[in-house]
Amino acid sequence: MEGSKARYVDNTSQLFSAGLTIRQKEPKNLEAPFDRIDSYLTPTELFYIRSHFPTPALDHASYKLRIGGAVRSPFALSYDELRNMPSETRVATLECAGNSRVFLVPQVQGAQWELGAVSNAEWTGVPLRVLLERAGLAEDACEIVLEGADRGTPKEEPVPPVPISYTWSLPRTKALRSEVLIAYQMNGRELPRDHGFPVRAIVPGHYGMASVKWLTGIQAVREPFHGYWQTSDYAYWAEMEGKPVRRALGEMQLKSEIARPRVYETLAPNRIYTISGAAWAGETDVTEIAVSTDGGRTWTEAEFVDPVRRHAWRRWKLDWLTPKEPGQYTLLARAKDAAGVIQPDKHDRNYGTYVINHPLPIEVFVGDSRGS
Ligand code: MTE
Repeated sequence: MEGSKARYVDNTSQLFSAGLTIRQKEPKNLEAPFDRIDSYLTPTELFYIRSHFPTPALDHASYKLRIGGAVRSPFALSYDELRNMPSETRVATLECAGNSRVFLVPQVQGAQWELGAVSNAEWTGVPLRVLLERAGLAEDACEIVLEGADRGTPKEEPVPPVPISYTWSLPRTKALRSEVLIAYQMNGRELPRDHGFPVRAIVPGHYGMASVKWLTGIQAVREPFHGYWQTSDYAYWAEMEGKPVRRALGEMQLKSEIARPRVYETLAPNRIYTISGAAWAGETDVTEIAVSTDGGRTWTEAEFVDPVRRHAWRRWKLDWLTPKEPGQYTLLARAKDAAGVIQPDKHDRNYGTYVINHPLPIEVFVGDSRGS
């Protein structure tokens, strides 16, 4: 069933997929068509792609995953050895921390993602915890560094002195949680090259940057790892003893997006239109969703399409009787989590060009004369 709804049959009865939008040609950064995906699981061919370096060419036969650092017994696994271990399958939403950046005013640097740097898939693999237990993780190891096979020199300052690989470290507590997978399947099939073939990490509840693709190394460390990606790139201003400090991004923040209608869509007056979208959170559950059709003055509770499932998005919908008067209307969606927290009214500048999780305005027209 999954995937079939995002495919369309054209006049010549050929199946074709909705396609992705290029935000950057090389390295590959492609956006999912958020407004065209009706299925719970994003079809693999429509899942967004976010890569910092050219895609490395790996193969099953020579693939090796090395587990070492602050452990008693380092070891390496071949692809077949990993595949032969007991596996788990779970659904997780990945969102790039820069998703929806195009909504920031004034415009900021970075890929101009709209609504589609987020997707939801089912992942199969071996829990990272099982590998760390087998290696005998040292008591005093505080982080687990995940290393990808892709390499290069980032363009943004401060430029590292030598080419680097894509690496990200997880706090020990998160790395040992059962949901973190060393995955080799996506939606029941082998991982495609763009999504990390043959093996990647999946870190449910954290922004996408933690889910390292083309994973070849897992290293436990005894002091915090201050690599390029988590200090210079995916970092934000936190507070410590009243003083600003730089911290690596981690948990995804509560967010909802309207999939339909689309920006500047024209809707018929005085008709029922089903507004739809999805909402997600990090280490909590989305419990309520409200929609405004008057720019945030009044809110109406919408209905969830999917049940609560930690780390996976919940689609939602609301039937709206469109106004009789033609004109421009601003739609917003706002989620609430299990602790009663709602999305912030505006973007928090401490996150820089990341974590854009305020209600995103979707302007539409009712009637056929724009703005009249
Ligand atoms: N892993 C490697 N090795 N290299 C990368 O550039 N990009 C990260 C993460 N893992 C990246 C990576 C970022 S920023 C995101 S949002 C997710 O992969 C995107 O995963 P996807 O391309 O499968 O959607």
